[in-house]
Amino acid sequence: MSYPYQIESYEAYQSAWKQSVEDPEGFWGKVAEHFQWRRKWDKVLSWNFRDPDVKWFEGGRLNITENCLDRHLERYGNYPAIIWEPNHPDEHHRVLTYQQLHFKVNQFAHVLHNNGVRKGDRVCIYMGMIPELAIAVLACARVGAIHSVIFGGFSAQSIADRLQDAQAEYIVTCDGAFRGGKDIPLKSVIDDALIACPFVKRTIVFTRTRTPVSMIKGRDVWWEDEIHKVETLGNPPFPAVEMDAEDPLFILYTSGSTGKPKGVVHACAGYMVYTNYTFVNVFQYKPGEVHFCTADIGWITGHSYIVYGPLSAGATSLMFEGIPTWPDAGRFWDIVDKFRVNILYTAPTAIRSLMAFGLGPLQGKQLDSLRVLGTVGEPINEEAWQWYNEHVGKRNCPIVDTWWQTETGGVLISNMAGVTPSKPTYATLPLPGVEPLLVDEHGQEIKGNNVSGNLCIRSPWPSVIRTTYGDHERCQKNYFSAYPELYFTGDGAMRDENGFYRITGRVDDVLNVSGHRIGTAEVENAINMHAGVVESAVVGYPHDIKGQGIYAYVIFSEMHGDEELTRRDITSTVSRIIGPIAKPDKIQFVKGLPKTRSGKIMRRILRKIAEGETENLGDTTTLLDPSVVQDIAKGRLTH
Ligand code: WTA
Repeated sequence: MSYPYQIESYEAYQSAWKQSVEDPEGFWGKVAEHFQWRRKWDKVLSWNFRDPDVKWFEGGRLNITENCLDRHLERYGNYPAIIWEPNHPDEHHRVLTYQQLHFKVNQFAHVLHNNGVRKGDRVCIYMGMIPELAIAVLACARVGAIHSVIFGGFSAQSIADRLQDAQAEYIVTCDGAFRGGKDIPLKSVIDDALIACPFVKRTIVFTRTRTPVSMIKGRDVWWEDEIHKVETLGNPPFPAVEMDAEDPLFILYTSGSTGKPKGVVHACAGYMVYTNYTFVNVFQYKPGEVHFCTADIGWITGHSYIVYGPLSAGATSLMFEGIPTWPDAGRFWDIVDKFRVNILYTAPTAIRSLMAFGLGPLQGKQLDSLRVLGTVGEPINEEAWQWYNEHVGKRNCPIVDTWWQTETGGVLISNMAGVTPSKPTYATLPLPGVEPLLVDEHGQEIKGNNVSGNLCIRSPWPSVIRTTYGDHERCQKNYFSAYPELYFTGDGAMRDENGFYRITGRVDDVLNVSGHRIGTAEVENAINMHAGVVESAVVGYPHDIKGQGIYAYVIFSEMHGDEELTRRDITSTVSRIIGPIAKPDKIQFVKGLPKTRSGKIMRRILRKIAEGETENLGDTTTLLDPSVVQDIAKGRLTH
């Protein structure tokens, strides 16, 4: 496999970018020719950002799994597609060649089909990081079902909300998942979720942890039994279902500034072309290399750069079940050496948490196979960038700082490893097909360099969000209405003297905690579920390891136990409602919240206090009761 569309020099990047914005149809039409289509498209692109209505490769017919699996078989069938490293270093790793992965995806596609799953049906996948998760995802795509993967850290309530929103009738899960020293009982969480979801017809359960589970007759079946049935029939191949280019491939829920997560919908063809293109170009993947993306497939990064991008490119994708710090903080480095990893793609929060252990865990590790390092998910601070460069890359590996979002499907702004210039803490330049711009709060474009503003994108790239599931208006309102005719990212950015972009963080009420997106309104809703809570307000504050921590101001009615116990009660409520990832780091009990006369909470003030500023809180004269601010500032939590 070689990639005719791989860009190999800065000049080539510049001319590709120019061509891509002047003639997007010509540009992407040419890239798309290198994929396997059942029927070629009639039109490369038609769009408007008003509705929005975006169609790429209209009239084209395909199945993404033929591009990720079948087309590699003849020449690369014995190449490793997935290398899987288990949580516990003493357990054996697994390697699935393209041939084997193809076989397993076909088997499981039969299982899905035998259990009633058809084209367009929604299948929720709630599993740990095991190869069967990738197999389930691909099997859905093969039968034309729409997968919706839910990260293993979400609670039963969050799962139920998502199942209801997607009206998902099928679930694929595990008895449990191993993560570090923990054993998470996934099936039992699903059982709790299903109390509120009587429409679910089938759950298919894979055995991983041997945790006891309750299997309900008529609803729950074992993965292994179902596979056995396919084996008895002699494992016939499963003919991939032909999909329209614009048919939905998956839904992935993500947080916005409202209390309810949105189901971001991606379409088959555009998503395939763009994740492949960006995988090959950003990381400059060379056939035979091992690509290790440390994300969970429950997030977009795992979808695009563990599963679809690498596999559509015939690459070897390494999947890791565990966490970077267990059994010790050398776990990543051991994996890199064990499999001679060439590309390591991780999050700043992981880098910072490893930095905190000092250089000890790096001692005796070779890391000489590494060629490219990548980061994603949040702004990387200078110190973490330098540490990554110095101690992991040994100043020998370009670092790609890849900026993108669940809604963008693939990387939009990033340097290309060793091909375009890098600059610490800067995502740098837009990839071909991407036209970023900065606007002020009135929607006026801010031109020139050395400026900052709200980051927007002018025209569609192939994997732009198509809709929010079941509610197109919400998609329009969220992304395409703040600035007419533009896609608004929700991020702020600056552009330096070279035109390089640096993403400064969210400008809406979305937090980024350890690279996970969480809406403040979601956390507030969860806190308010606690019986004693009258009202709450949540803001982010800078956190050394997580990037942002969650600071909650809570008005509590009657304290029965001590404050500390009540804090723990609230935390466990949030865990129960959303999941452990949304637990507040700090809870301050307050008597009142700073509100304007119209009843709006002045978050700006709360944010300042959470950040440690207690003096210059700005204008408080418009507040209903300015004195609450002093009380809050006095009671600020410092630890
Ligand atoms: C942030 C993750 C700075 C940003 C792929 C964005 C980043 C949000 C970067 C999307 C980066 C992602 N530099 N910030 N390289 N990458 N972000 O949807 O705020 O989980 O809007 O997608 O993460 O998070 P999401």
